[in-house]
Amino acid sequence: MTPETLAALDRAHLIHPVSSWRDQEEYGPRILQSGQGAWLTDIEGNKLLDGFAGLWCVNVGYGQQKVVQAATEQMARLPYATGYFGFASESAITLASRLAVVTPGDLNRVFFSQGGSDAVDSALRFIRFYQHARGTPEKRHVIGLARGYHGSTYTGAGLTALAAFHRDADVPLAWQHHISSPDPYRHPEGPDAAPIIAASVADLRNKVTELGGPEHVAAFFCEPVQGSGGVAIPPKGWLTAMRNTCRELDILFVTDEVITGFGRTGPLFACEHEGVVPDMMTVAKGLTSGYAPMGAVFMSEGMYSTIRDATPPGIAVGHGMTYSAHPVSAAIGLAVLDLYQNGLLDNGVTSGNHLATRLAAMKDHPLVGDARSIGMLGAIELVTDKAAKTKPTASLGISKKLARIGYEKGVLFRAFGDDIIGLAPPLCLTLEETDILCDRIEIVLNVLLDDKDIAAAIA
Ligand SMILES: Cc1ncc(COP(=O)(O)O)c(C=O)c1O
Repeated sequence: MTPETLAALDRAHLIHPVSSWRDQEEYGPRILQSGQGAWLTDIEGNKLLDGFAGLWCVNVGYGQQKVVQAATEQMARLPYATGYFGFASESAITLASRLAVVTPGDLNRVFFSQGGSDAVDSALRFIRFYQHARGTPEKRHVIGLARGYHGSTYTGAGLTALAAFHRDADVPLAWQHHISSPDPYRHPEGPDAAPIIAASVADLRNKVTELGGPEHVAAFFCEPVQGSGGVAIPPKGWLTAMRNTCRELDILFVTDEVITGFGRTGPLFACEHEGVVPDMMTVAKGLTSGYAPMGAVFMSEGMYSTIRDATPPGIAVGHGMTYSAHPVSAAIGLAVLDLYQNGLLDNGVTSGNHLATRLAAMKDHPLVGDARSIGMLGAIELVTDKAAKTKPTASLGISKKLARIGYEKGVLFRAFGDDIIGLAPPLCLTLEETDILCDRIEIVLNVLLDDKDIAAAIA
């Protein structure tokens, strides 16, 4: 089919996730054809450096033949095995057991989902089961963070704290609550760690009190680094303090590592930066590096055995999905894990350090208010007044311009609606490619500066 025919069919039929349906019909799709390493080629033959690893997921990069082989072999041998009725597949069992070894602490029990949203939704269901199992069903409120993202199911969208997911959706639900974000760049207490941590701990305690005390609160969810909220990186010590507060209050501490998992921030899981062991952890994306859909929710031995022991013999724990523990996704997960453990995590750390150096230099650019990163996860926040941290007015249309100019200059990144550039390149990015990525971003920023409306808005 010609690109024009495909574009017409896209406009007529394909609903794109979290998109303006009007814009999609007006502008049509950008159709991608192939990928190799950190590079994508579109249907017109344009080569693009993928600074966002698809949707922060293709951590191993494109065209990894060992992954393709593992998937092909599994698909030929056994393309599907249900996990219902006691059935299982070798790849799913092996992946579960290997993940149990590498996940923090006693997160030894895993339920596989199809992605991150249903991993979060599954976690919320397991939390309900757990509170019933331990005889505390009145512990039902769940607290998340402002600017948090926890997916797009009915329950997850309410735990998410981004306006686009709440509009006309009748969420958050009555049991879902949020406390303020620990974003150092925009924190009212300033950028230092101690006051930010103290404020978050106080916020959590106050929220719990407001909800009637710990006996009414089931869990606290957080991303160790807030991704879709604009890559907000809490100060060191924040995760530990929140974990400890939850333990003290007898509230489950759940980390959503859908983005931060699998080497994105350096170690396999971001919790490892501080040696934090959550009660539950959700993952997806890097689990299969986007080569096939799969997510997972891990739970501690204690949670698992509480639910098991409280469920009468022969009675099912009523949560499942046709594609849970899909054998092809699991085979991919195993191949991807091999790659992480055989050099890819190390490469991500090396290139991540270089990315941090290059981003730090970008802070001098007239449009850049903040540039931050941890490992291969970063952001550049644009402002029109550095001292006042003023966000550009919507009428400047910066985010749309960013996406368009980036594409023209051969670089892909996330152009967040609030004028933040999100970066999450594949961990296979070389040092040279890291330079190309940053050089092209600088070119994009300079093209923006040439826009007379934008130049005039700068203080
Ligand atoms: C932290 C977090 N949780 C959950 C999700 C939802 O995952 P999915 O898009 O695979 O459903 C995402 C997706 O970006 C995420 O970043």
